[in-house]
Amino acid sequence: MKVQTVAMAAIAVAASTFAFAIGRAVWQSPEPAPPRTAPTYFQPPLEASIPDDDFGAMVSRGKAIFVDTPTHAADYVGNELSCRSCHLDRGRMPNSAPMWGAWVRYPQYRAKNQIVNTMADRIAGCFRFSMNGTPPPADSDVMRALQAYFFWMATGAPTGTTLPGAGYPEVHPPASAPDLDRGGTVYAEKCAICHGNDGEGQRSGGRYVFPPLWGSNTYNKGAGMYRVDLAAAFIKANMPLGKGGSLSDQEAWDVAAFVNSHERPADPRQSAGGRDPSAR
Ligand code: HEC
Ligand code: HEC
Repeated sequence: MKVQTVAMAAIAVAASTFAFAIGRAVWQSPEPAPPRTAPTYFQPPLEASIPDDDFGAMVSRGKAIFVDTPTHAADYVGNELSCRSCHLDRGRMPNSAPMWGAWVRYPQYRAKNQIVNTMADRIAGCFRFSMNGTPPPADSDVMRALQAYFFWMATGAPTGTTLPGAGYPEVHPPASAPDLDRGGTVYAEKCAICHGNDGEGQRSGGRYVFPPLWGSNTYNKGAGMYRVDLAAAFIKANMPLGKGGSLSDQEAWDVAAFVNSHERPADPRQSAGGRDPSAR
């Protein structure tokens, strides 16, 4: 009798937690569980501690741009993603290239554009390729606000170092070459429920709640996510949302190759007619 009551209570709790988790994933900023073998990660300050002054106002503006880029930086985006579409939990999630991890490793030399990149240069890269847009000027309010947000998020972090959880954890090279058929099966079973059968994402109230993975509204062919190794690393650590780390390495490579085998906007460096050396 007693055992039964306890079991029933446990089921009720589990069911409500599940419903809550689904509700959150759909309607609020999703916050997937940290990977199971989590080392101790740097803890960014709580958002409630953003100071109530002019600096804090800029931090909050940066956060708003990060969370809903098409609304708050409309002139600079060419698709309907937001920074948070790939940098999860508003840029706070370890292993999804968190902004506290990024802040402390710039300026940095990058082979992609063969110069030492400031943080503004690096942000410009994500506007140009991941957001398929035109980067805001380095001295614009949008750049100021984003950098204020990242600087605040890295409060107390050591600088000039790669913190645990920065970038993505590397995935092992696949045992066999990435395969589109296998990737299609993984996609149908584990991704389509949120991202749609044709990678088109899902909207609610005119806004994407699940971002598109291919087609005209997502990252272009110059983006980091278009590299199968980076996409596999992001997917392995973070997808399916809330179940990061659940795919095998092979599944992550296969589904990354499958996603990137579909049409998407061209690399602006190529569509401009050959390689543009000033491309960031
Ligand atoms: C389509 C996915 C996507 C979107 C959208 C996106 N990024 Fe990124 N971003 C990436 C990838 C991939 C990397 C490279 C991660 C790596 O190499 O570890 C990256 C890297 C970065 C870095 C450097 C991270 C580091 O640790 O060195 C910064 C800063 C950054 N992005 C800012 C932004 C900002 C700001 C926006 C919105 C304007 C944005 N990103 C939108 C995918 C995206
Ligand atoms: C439970 C719903 C859900 C499932 C299942 C899911 N995703 Fe996602 N995915 C999301 C959400 C939501 C985001 C954006 C995060 C945000 O806005 O906070 C995202 C972001 C992404 C992104 C970066 C943004 C973009 O549009 O390119 C990629 C790539 C991605 N998912 C791939 C996958 C793959 C591959 C699978 C299957 C292995 C998968 N996802 C399963 C919900 C899901």
